[in-house]
Order: sequence, then structure tokens, then C-alpha cells
Amino acid sequence: MKCRVIAVLGTRPEAIKLALVIHQLRQRSEEFETAVVHTGQHRTMLDNALKLFKIKPDFLLDVMRPNQTLSSLTARVLDTVENACHQFEPNIVLVQGDTTTAFASALAAYYCKVAVGHIEAGLRSGDLYNPFPEEGNRRLASVMTEIHFAPTALSRDNLLAEGVPGGKIVVTGNTVVDTLRALSDLPHSWENTPLAGIPRDDGRLVLVTSHRRESWGSDQENMCLALKDLIQKHPDIRVVYPVHMNPNVRATVNALLQDTDRIHLTEPLGYIDFVSLLRSCFMVLTDSGGIQEEAPTFRKPVLVLRKVTERPEASQFGMARIIGMSREAIVSEADRLLTNTDAYEDMSEGENPYGDGHSSERIVEAVSRWHQRKTPLLDAEKQFKLPPRPQPRRRKSDLEVAAAKTAVAGKE
Ligand code: UD1
Ligand code: UDP
Repeated sequence: MKCRVIAVLGTRPEAIKLALVIHQLRQRSEEFETAVVHTGQHRTMLDNALKLFKIKPDFLLDVMRPNQTLSSLTARVLDTVENACHQFEPNIVLVQGDTTTAFASALAAYYCKVAVGHIEAGLRSGDLYNPFPEEGNRRLASVMTEIHFAPTALSRDNLLAEGVPGGKIVVTGNTVVDTLRALSDLPHSWENTPLAGIPRDDGRLVLVTSHRRESWGSDQENMCLALKDLIQKHPDIRVVYPVHMNPNVRATVNALLQDTDRIHLTEPLGYIDFVSLLRSCFMVLTDSGGIQEEAPTFRKPVLVLRKVTERPEASQFGMARIIGMSREAIVSEADRLLTNTDAYEDMSEGENPYGDGHSSERIVEAVSRWHQRKTPLLDAEKQFKLPPRPQPRRRKSDLEVAAAKTAVAGKE
């Protein structure tokens, strides 16, 4: 009997992170019957990604409303995903991450007494309101989950500490690294993209994104003012800021930054365009979860525009810093990287700690073994291991420099 799998996606990052899992499931069609449910929580931003990955949803729901509230969105996802479960009768429902689509779909599956596989499980900031509502969404999803696909050992440990049995957790790495590796070598030009108008001069590009609900209002305003300060201080930089479609984000960003010289606001970028920008930039300022996980692949320093992160691995590796949203902190931290080559190089070393490009394979293999009632879900040696932590670069001390100069002088 084939394993019947529903993979649910609703927002841009879910499509990007589930793309290769869906491809793997479809490739193993002798084993899996797969249906993709698109809740429609996002439309424009998600549909671009689905086109790129050639994923055609089997169930296309239509839950998005302009400026939707969390409760009404949750209710619509719950109702429509439950219907999809009744129609398809899956053995397992795969959800990704911490969005309302992920949480409400897990709840719908639970109400239908269908097993839930939670991809990107076990991330915890430890603060229910940061990020909001994502920290609540992912904790609630964990309670209903049968297989927890934890990206890293740290996320596994978070789950173990909450009492999840070790046999139900598989450490997979983050699937976003699979997607990046699959796509990042494609040739690409900025012509005919929203990036076309940005001069490719010697100016260093600072890539900025932000959309978190807890930052709407004054934090978001501070961030915009900090960007203006930076532009004034550094005549050689350009800020490129693809603005999220959430109207609450757009209102502030457009009001404060539109028509500012060397600040380029664009529409949300297609994934290939975005990755190309990430590759070309000098550094990243972001509150995005996915971008924190992607930037280390290209060794781009990340200043995280949040008070806490549930993805501390990059900062533990010295590749990211959590700087909050105050205008002063943003200016001084960015300034440091723009002016201090040593500080910049320290943050530009190391392997991506979030994944190795094989996460989707691990997930699909574990689902297959679960369906065949095999244990363990995946052998320990096949699970994702963190790469070695980069060593801080050893700089010559003043004494060493003086000694070297004396030695050279002695030879002359
Ligand atoms: C959602 C997720 C967030 C995730 C982010 C990724 C929730 C509660 N939030 O935030 O965790 O980090 O997606 O981008 O699940 N809109 C459009 N077109 C689109 C998408 C959004 O117009 O393609 C507008 C609509 O007015 C919509 C609003 O943005 O009502 C908010 O969308 P919503 O999905 O509720 O929240 P996001 O801020 O996008
Ligand atoms: N992304 C994109 N176009 C953009 C901005 C981001 O394709 O203009 C991609 C980015 O590479 C990452 C994902 O969208 O894979 C992150 O989405 P977002 O920041 O909206 O959500 P989060 O990861 O914070 O949930």
C-alpha cells in the first residue's frame, strides 16, 4: 500500500522550503501518493515560487483576504484543510515551519486523526511574543506532531527538553539549503527584473528585508531612519530593500523611504532574483527566518533585526549578530562592518550551519520508514551534523608586527 502524503504550503517560505521535499516524494511515486495543498494564505508571493519550482497544487484553497486577521485566517485554513484531508485521506500531513498555515493545518490533520510530520520543528526563541505569532504556532504544532523533523541538534534538544521522545525526532538540516544549492548556479541577469534600475557601480549593496508583526510601527520606523543615517554616512553604499506585500509593512516603508537617493525599494523579488541579490550584496539586515538561514551559504554577514532569534546557530558561528531594532544599534553595527575590514572578514567565514543540501532526502526517507513501521526513523549516522565552527582569524598582535618589521629591517 502506498503512503498517502499531503504537503501543505501557504506562504512564500513554505513553498521555497518544501519544493524539494515535494519533488522527492513525486520521484518515489511507486511508494508515495502525494497531494499538494496550497491554502492561499499568500497569493502573489507564493505563486511566483510555485511557478519556478513547477509545482501545481492539487488543492488550491483561497483563504487570503486583504490585511487579514490571525483568527479569521486560522479559521479559514482549519476548515479548508480539513476538507482536503477528508477528500484525499492521507496517512500523513507534512507542514513546514511556524506560519498560520502550518499550525492550522496541523490542527486540521489532528482533528481528522491523521499523523502530522512537522518540518523545521523544535525552533524556539523562548519568548511567546517574539516572533509573534510564530513562536506560539510552532510550539502548538509540536504538540500534535508524530514525526519532528528538527533542522539541527539544537532544535532536537529543544524538543527533548519539552518531553518529545527521541525516537520521534530526526535531525535533517534545513531544506532551504537544498533549494539554494539546486538553484544558485543558474545563470542570471538583472535585466527585466525589479533589480534592473539599480546601477552596478562600485557601490556596496546592503540588502534589507523586514516584515515581522512585532516590529510594525515604531521599530519599523526606527529601522527606516537608521537606513537613511547609513546612506548619509557612507556615500559608497546602496540599500536594496524588496518590500514585503503586507500592507502594514508597506505603509511605513513607503512613507519614510520612497524617493530616497541610493535606497532602492522594490516589489518582492522572484526567488532566483533574490538569491542573485544575496550573492552580490555586501551584507544583510533582516528579520526574516529564511534569509538568516540562506546568507551563510554565500558567507554574507547578517545583522538580525530582532530582539531574539530561534535560529542562533549563525551567531554561534560568528556569521550573524542579533542587534534589535533601535536606530542607534542598527547604525553602529552596520557602520562597524562597513568600516572595519577585520570585523567584516570575521563574519564572512565558515560553512552554513543550517544544512548540507540533503535535508529533503532525509525527510522523505524517514517518512518511508515510518510508513513501513521501521525504527529508527533514520540511522543516527545519516542525520545532519553541524559543520566545524569557524576558528576566529588569528591576527598578528602589535608585538608580532613590530618583531616582523625588525626582522625585515635587520635583513636590509
Ligand atoms: C506570513 C506569516 C509569517 C511569515 C511570512 C512570510 C503568519 C501569521 N505569518 O506573514 O510567519 O514569516 O508570511 O512572508 O502566518 N499579502 C498580499 N499578497 C501576498 C501575501 C500577502 O497581498 O502574496 C498581504 C495581504 O493583504 C495579507 C497580508 O499581506 O492579508 C498579510 O499576510 P499574512 O500571510 O497574514 O502575513 P504575513 O505578514 O505575510
Ligand atoms: N525571498 C524572496 N524574495 C524576496 C524576499 C525573500 O524570494 O523579495 C525569499 C528568501 O530567499 C527566503 C524566503 O523568501 O527563502 C523568506 O521569506 P520571508 O522573509 O518572507 O519569510 P520568513 O522566512 O521570515 O518566514
